[in-house]
Amino acid sequence: MKALVLAGGAGNRLRPITHTSAKQLLPVGNKPVLFYGLEAIRDTDITEVGIVVGATAPAIQAAVGGGEAFGLDVSYLRQESPLGLADAVLVSQDFLGDDDFVMYLGDIFMLGGIRQLVEDFQGHRPAAQLLVASVPDPRAFGVPELDADGRVVGIEEKPRQPKSDRAVTGVYLFAPAVHDAVAQLTPSSRGEYEISDAVQWLIDKGQAVRSTPFTGRWKDTGSAADLLDANRMLLERLEPQQRGVVDAASELIGPVQIDDNAQISGSRIVGPAVIGAGARVTDSYVGPFTSVAPTCVIANSEVEYSIVLRGASIHGVRRIAASLIGHDVEVTPASRVSRTHRLLLGDHSKVQISC
Ligand code: DAU
Repeated sequence: MKALVLAGGAGNRLRPITHTSAKQLLPVGNKPVLFYGLEAIRDTDITEVGIVVGATAPAIQAAVGGGEAFGLDVSYLRQESPLGLADAVLVSQDFLGDDDFVMYLGDIFMLGGIRQLVEDFQGHRPAAQLLVASVPDPRAFGVPELDADGRVVGIEEKPRQPKSDRAVTGVYLFAPAVHDAVAQLTPSSRGEYEISDAVQWLIDKGQAVRSTPFTGRWKDTGSAADLLDANRMLLERLEPQQRGVVDAASELIGPVQIDDNAQISGSRIVGPAVIGAGARVTDSYVGPFTSVAPTCVIANSEVEYSIVLRGASIHGVRRIAASLIGHDVEVTPASRVSRTHRLLLGDHSKVQISC
């Protein structure tokens, strides 16, 4: 059995950060979201992994390499344009051959692993098996219709009027029959070759499609709000750890992780929060559900429920919340005399200023 991890696509809802980074490399608890998927695959018996990459291939390859750090053997499969999840399977056919495979979307954050799911699939060997979760509003997902035994009897992609409250989470298991399905598809109304249509094709041909309910922590990290929520889910389980230097004038409350060579002085950090290696927090407040990446600087500022990416600095700003701050970004106050906001923002930036 092999694994196919989808790390192409564009990440439009995370612009401008995705102008320069792959969305699958955005961090949850200071670790790229993609790595959680690779770790879940490593915890099964699968070692051969193909990662589908597009325009951001160099960044993904630089982060994952040959997969040695995960104990995996990783190959890269180039998808020329992001034509859809079924197209990603189509371009991976040579790599997948006649093997069964797990398909894992590289931008989903999931805790709890997939070992049980893989064993369940191997026990029954249906044409496809989907990991599904109940959600309050399934309209942004693939929505399966299940019978009383959990068999999938129909599936629609992002329906306006969903026929169930279930969503396809982004982990799929397939037998080689899926290759016949993806070869028959035409683009959907949004112009993509949908994996949901391939699954429906299998159902229409009378092939067995099963579902496994997922009740654990899971998030599609497609937007900043979703990424912050995934970060919250992870930090809720944080164990306190102190490897950096915390001075006597600082206070750590609740689970706080301070990584190597981080320096905390004159500051109050209320966990759960992570301060990455080499970061400096001075005369500041860092509040719950915040991840500060390595080498960031936070001085005379207040930050909570936020993700701050590597090398960013925040000086003299009160109070930042529910924010995603990109690599090497600088946030500082404007001159008090002019009482203006001075902004140098990349295309597609989003700023909310409290006046
Ligand atoms: O999050 C679960 C949902 O993921 C499912 O419920 C939907 O049925 C499924 O279609 C998918 O919908 P999304 O709109 O969230 O897919 P997205 O465009 O975000 O792509 C998912 C991953 O696949 C992401 O890591 C990018 C990658 N991708 C995407 C496309 C369109 C590719 O590698 N190639 C592509 O052509």
